[in-house]
Amino acid sequence: MTKVAVLGAAGGIGQPLSLLLKLDKAVTDLSLFDVVNVPGVGADLSHINTDAKVSYHLKSDNNGTGLQSALQGADIVIIPAGVPRKPGMTRDDLFKINGGICADLATGIATTCPDALVLVISNPVNSTVPIFAEVFKKHGSFNANKLFGVTWLDTVRANTFIAQATASYPTSFKVKVVGGHSGDTIVPLYSVTAADAYAKLSNEEESALIHRVQFGGDEVVQAKQGAGSATLSMAYAGYRFLKTFLNAKDLEEPIVESCYISLDESVKGAKETKAYLKELTGEDIEFFAMPCKLGSNGVESIEFDLLKAANDKERQLINVCANTLTGNINKGVSFIRGN
Ligand code: APR
Repeated sequence: MTKVAVLGAAGGIGQPLSLLLKLDKAVTDLSLFDVVNVPGVGADLSHINTDAKVSYHLKSDNNGTGLQSALQGADIVIIPAGVPRKPGMTRDDLFKINGGICADLATGIATTCPDALVLVISNPVNSTVPIFAEVFKKHGSFNANKLFGVTWLDTVRANTFIAQATASYPTSFKVKVVGGHSGDTIVPLYSVTAADAYAKLSNEEESALIHRVQFGGDEVVQAKQGAGSATLSMAYAGYRFLKTFLNAKDLEEPIVESCYISLDESVKGAKETKAYLKELTGEDIEFFAMPCKLGSNGVESIEFDLLKAANDKERQLINVCANTLTGNINKGVSFIRGN
């Protein structure tokens, strides 16, 4: 029995994500929540003859208790709620609006389903995940092993773009990506996780590839001409990441995927990762995307060795990432602490 709640289910990401979840046999209950339009999306999906039982909840339902009803008994909560990025808008411009939305949703989770796995898509992920962590800490429900920023679209793009650059089959790669989830905070570890193909690229091709992974989201924003940012590829990435936890129950070995997590000491491997990042960058980094062994209860351990194997160029990229990322994290923390 697995109940998945989608917060922001009526949106551009929320709808295809909910469809993918409705088609997944491992989901028994699919709970859809939004501030608008969710009854239509829910009624529509409920006609599909798969097992997942669909329920839908507007925030305003039952005197404003719709969020609590949506979250009741949820095992996994995935959150694409918010406002999407428009041309000329950076992920940070979104921060004020989405930060407030995230703080409200985090409070609902902390008080209704504090043990759920929480998967954050709402941007800017570098700052919204620290907001969730702060709210959970306030409520005494913070578990660093169960809170994730979904950075899987960076992994998807890293795999797709190296396949294109090297004329390889699209599913040939399993690149791991570290750092954050915007621009120069995204660091694909190509030398570690796609060494053979990567070695064939010239310096120029290598730089162009890394730039494309870091700023691939802009290609979609520009192509959509004002209609928003990535939705279909993001829904796919969110679903695939969530599926890791659905699959984990049936697998003996945990799955290794990249995700943005707290480097709290309670996470196995966080201490070494933090110390390494401090030595490399001089920064105390509290949240960082790392390849993690994931099981049905969340992070089992961080795969620190993959980070340690980064080449010089990747280490330089991590240095650039650290500066921006620390600012993004502080922004999220200050948003809640009010300073
Ligand atoms: N609670 C729940 N849902 C909300 C709330 C809220 N407080 N506020 C807004 N929403 C809903 C909107 O009603 C909408 O249905 O979130 C959904 C967002 O959908 P879109 O506007 O279509 O945005 P989308 O492209 O899906 O992106 C959502 O994910 O990748 C990020 O940058 C993106 O932060 C943005 C988010």
